[in-house]
Amino acid sequence: MKFFLAGATGAVGTIVLPFAESDGHVVVPHLRPQSAGKTPLRSHPNACIADLAAVDVIADAMRGCDAALCLVGTMRTRFADGDSYATSDVGAVREVVAAAKAAGVARVVLLSSLGAGGMGAYLQAKGEAERVVKESGLAWVIARPGAFASPVKAPEGLHGARNFPSAGVAFFRGLAAAGLRGFAHRYGPMPLDVLARALVRAAQGGHDGCILHGDELRVIGA
Ligand SMILES: NC(=O)c1ccc[n+]([C@@H]2O[C@H](COP(=O)([O-])OP(=O)(O)OC[C@H]3O[C@@H](n4cnc5c(N)ncnc54)[C@H](OP(=O)(O)O)[C@@H]3O)[C@@H](O)[C@H]2O)c1
Repeated sequence: MKFFLAGATGAVGTIVLPFAESDGHVVVPHLRPQSAGKTPLRSHPNACIADLAAVDVIADAMRGCDAALCLVGTMRTRFADGDSYATSDVGAVREVVAAAKAAGVARVVLLSSLGAGGMGAYLQAKGEAERVVKESGLAWVIARPGAFASPVKAPEGLHGARNFPSAGVAFFRGLAAAGLRGFAHRYGPMPLDVLARALVRAAQGGHDGCILHGDELRVIGA
């Protein structure tokens, strides 16, 4: 299949890209112009280097894709660089959805967060992004993992690895061993290689209209 990948330079996108390609899919990685100079991905044969706001350009790059994966977001530490939850966590999703509709892409896969729609600006933004996807008229899949844990020796992308504290990992392992496996897998740290596999598999179909939490993502990405 062919996938458009927004967020290709992120901690998750950096793992999704090689997994999808090694699984035989064609990927169009999206890069922002201001980031393209910082990553070897700019030389990727299918790289789409443009602002997501250039919906016509993005739609051209999406044409022929079976799904658009949106793994875009920011954090407070990057607000000083010009990103915000409004632009990165909501606006970017609106732009990906608009381009997907214009390009006739059937499915959008949104990487959201555990607790989306809950209290606080971040979770509110994630809730709004989910609403945009659900009301898009496209087939959609929403992933709601908890905190991330990068695999050892994983590529790090432009935003570093996600290192969940080892005491926390041990805590959730203990819960799983004590019979609380479902709880531990839903709320515990999500290994990013497992998440990447789950996202790529969800992009292929079979989970449309589903909101997938960590426990479900672990089954799909096993
Ligand atoms: N970290 C966690 O524990 C956690 C848990 C649950 C869910 N999530 C969510 O999962 C998603 C991916 O997380 P991550 O850790 O892989 O993120 P990340 O490493 O911070 O990467 C964010 C990606 O979004 C891109 N981006 C940001 N603003 C953009 C914009 N306006 N237009 C286009 N691209 C933009 C970045 O591009 P540049 O390289 O150009 O900046 C980068 O590729 C995020 O939505 C995050 O909120 C995170």
